[in-house]
Amino acid sequence: MASEKPLVIVTCTAPVNIAVIKYWGKRDEELILPLNSSLSVTLHQDQLKTTTTAAISRDFAEDRVWLNGVEVDVGQPRLQSCLREIRRLAWQQRRTDEGDAPPPHLSYKVHIASQNNFPTAAGLASSAAGYACLAYTLARVYRVEGELSEVARRGSGSACRSLYGGFVQWHMGEQADGKDSIAQQVAPELHWPELWILVLVVSAERKLTGSTAGMQTSVETSTLLQFRATSVVPGRMAEMIRCVRERDFSGFGQLTMKDSNQFHATCLDTFPPISYLNDTSKLIMYLVHRFNAHHGQTKVAYTFDAGPNAVIFTLDDAVAEFMAAVKHCFPPESNGDRFLKGLPVMPVPLSDELKAALALDPSPGSIKYIIATKVGPGPQILDDPHLHLLGSDGLPKPAA
Ligand code: DP6
Repeated sequence: MASEKPLVIVTCTAPVNIAVIKYWGKRDEELILPLNSSLSVTLHQDQLKTTTTAAISRDFAEDRVWLNGVEVDVGQPRLQSCLREIRRLAWQQRRTDEGDAPPPHLSYKVHIASQNNFPTAAGLASSAAGYACLAYTLARVYRVEGELSEVARRGSGSACRSLYGGFVQWHMGEQADGKDSIAQQVAPELHWPELWILVLVVSAERKLTGSTAGMQTSVETSTLLQFRATSVVPGRMAEMIRCVRERDFSGFGQLTMKDSNQFHATCLDTFPPISYLNDTSKLIMYLVHRFNAHHGQTKVAYTFDAGPNAVIFTLDDAVAEFMAAVKHCFPPESNGDRFLKGLPVMPVPLSDELKAALALDPSPGSIKYIIATKVGPGPQILDDPHLHLLGSDGLPKPAA
């Protein structure tokens, strides 16, 4: 146990992101370089975030990591890769600043504690927020300046997009060393204030095929994936950037749905096939298309990652009505008052015309709950020492 105060202790938070042009497939497994560029929306940290505290001290005997209060194996290759990369950058930057000798704190061991403000078991992308937060916090502890995509990416490809708020693209890059495979903000957090994001939590079960293994099999077996990466995504990236910049919801929504569908088609084109969507996911897709058809325009859009949960995009003028439609088709089974989490949405009655147009029999309990949120900022530093997850002995504080 540490006998004195850690030399440096820092706590930061980082957001979850949801891709609207999906990353699926690597051209380099070691450096985590993608086959295609991707684009995501950063979710607000008031609803979904990871908090990480990192401390270094000469008294620490080994690197140690706790996730949601439980100590995990620090030898995991992705974790090791992030630690190695940040120490290498720190050494490189100090060497140019202060001569050739590495500063002593670079040899100190690190203690890291990380937790999510949402249930990890909900099947929401926690690794992106987790590794972005790790990269951001370690950079403060080891005083590394500049671009951190390379560090976050070593943990999880999609994590580099969680280093920024608003709308973010991850350039696939061209260089073999990955130096140009970096995330970049396309539009800031407050660019599109009317945009809502609803996370429809369908299942809390663990998925059968993780993203890393799934995309590896797709790269090896899917011809559709190669076609998608070379012939479809470049045009879609340009078009999506235009839709975001011009706040063209119809274009944004349609492209988001098409790209999600193509990603899942690629999964089915993988051999053996991968399927992440379940019956409820498909009913949600049906509901969205019926809702849009009823209005004669794209008012709502869905996207699905490597799991059955839906992420819905909509605007101020449709959010309450769509929520009423969801409640009608997927009535909460028991936790009626906890069905809607996050930002409040004023309840409105569902018109008989829309009810008839949806033509869906209610499927009670299929959606567990909904988290309503908006576009949010990138990682933040927390200045209040009370918020550190590690105590002055460098060990996790007991849960309050
Ligand atoms: C479907 O970033 O989790 O969410 O780089 O192997 O860690 P690794 O994969 P990961 O894959 C995310 C896939 C996705 C689409 C996306 O977020 O772009």
